[in-house]
Amino acid sequence: MDQKNFVVSYQTFKSLNELSASDQELCLKAEEALKSSYSPYSNFKVGAALKLSNKQLVLGSNQENVAYPSGLCAERVALFTVGAAYPEAAVQAMAITAKSSNFVIQKPVTSCGACLQVMAEFEQKQKQEIEVLFYCIGGEIIKVKGIKNLLPFVFVEERLER
Ligand code: THU
Repeated sequence: MDQKNFVVSYQTFKSLNELSASDQELCLKAEEALKSSYSPYSNFKVGAALKLSNKQLVLGSNQENVAYPSGLCAERVALFTVGAAYPEAAVQAMAITAKSSNFVIQKPVTSCGACLQVMAEFEQKQKQEIEVLFYCIGGEIIKVKGIKNLLPFVFVEERLER
């Protein structure tokens, strides 16, 4: 038996003003994206803002449906918008934030496994790591560079690629 360990790296910031101006701007854009969330079932709004290599900013928010599994997370709404509208651009950074009308969110909300898998494939496709900021409004920010730090056992199968 071999015991093996992953080391994951991330940074934490106490508040927005500890971030660079461009990271602050991206977090505020994620907050702006909350406005378009359609989340009548969970009352949990999620906003995502993506900064692209062509300087374009793309926003996304969670979109729910009465057939619950038909809804989609904010991160994937934003990432697939990039894939559809700016297929040549690379995603350099993304910020994610959340807000609930039922409870106070006291720490950054991190992305679900399905969104991490999609982020990982964007990295693979663009051959460039993504910086991810998980922003708690009025609180802490977690910053991660590279999805390997969030999903160490990512699913990859090169033989499925064309
Ligand atoms: N949600 C996201 O938008 N991103 C995630 O990474 C996890 C969850 C959304 C889906 C659903 O609309 C609501 O949050 C509650 O799960």
